Amino acid sequence: MSLADVKHPADVKHPANIKPLADVLYLPEDPAHDPEIEAINDEAFGPGRFVLAAYKIRESGGHDRSMSFVAVKDGTVIASVRMTRIAAGAGRAIMLGPLAVRPAYKNLGIGRRLVAIALEAAAKAGAPAVMLVGDEPYYGPLGFKKIPRGQLAMPRPVDFDRLLAHEIVPGAVARLTGEVCHASQARVAAHLPAMA
Ligand SMILES: CC(C)(COP(=O)(O)OP(=O)(O)OC[C@H]1O[C@@H](n2cnc3c(N)ncnc32)[C@H](O)[C@@H]1OP(=O)(O)O)[C@@H](O)C(=O)NCCC(=O)NCCS
Repeated sequence: MSLADVKHPADVKHPANIKPLADVLYLPEDPAHDPEIEAINDEAFGPGRFVLAAYKIRESGGHDRSMSFVAVKDGTVIASVRMTRIAAGAGRAIMLGPLAVRPAYKNLGIGRRLVAIALEAAAKAGAPAVMLVGDEPYYGPLGFKKIPRGQLAMPRPVDFDRLLAHEIVPGAVARLTGEVCHASQARVAAHLPAMA
């Protein structure tokens, strides 16, 4: 199945909302989507997003477009999810976020569908786990569990009760330890000569 052909599924919790969403397409992210995604994230998170720990990690190496998706209706991007390769200790994972849906399209199952598509893409890419900073009541039913406090550190302050992970390969979340960084930074560090 091509993700470009994915239509809104019939398994959303709001059957009454399926009809108006019949023409929503879920597409892999493309550079041409960038301005609209920026506007959606600005609307959802405001300028405060630039100081978030997740933003700092993402900016140090960029997100992975091959696992990032948009929801498009009538040629307009109405929601976005981005995925970033991260490392922590011996562990590797994908960090999900930001996830944002235009206000007019909230509570129609679009966010859940984007998360499901992103998780499927991460698994297909061989990612051992997906982590995020987010609300457990929203992400819990989508397969995310709290990461035990003290297991991870973030480059900027976060509420550690909001650090969640979805395990794909058994044991992968336990391997995530210490400070979370962009995966490209971990590779750089691995090539530095050992400190005396
Ligand atoms: C959070 C967000 C992505 C959800 O997307 P969505 O398409 O509106 O949500 P869905 O239709 O998939 O799911 C709706 C359900 O999730 C619930 N929900 C939405 N946000 C929630 C939250 N922060 N915590 C708990 N539940 C939440 C809704 O109440 C609804 O519940 P119901 O199905 O029992 O009625 C969207 O509201 C949004 O863009 N918010 C602003 C940005 C943001 O907070 N992003 C997430 C960062 S953690």
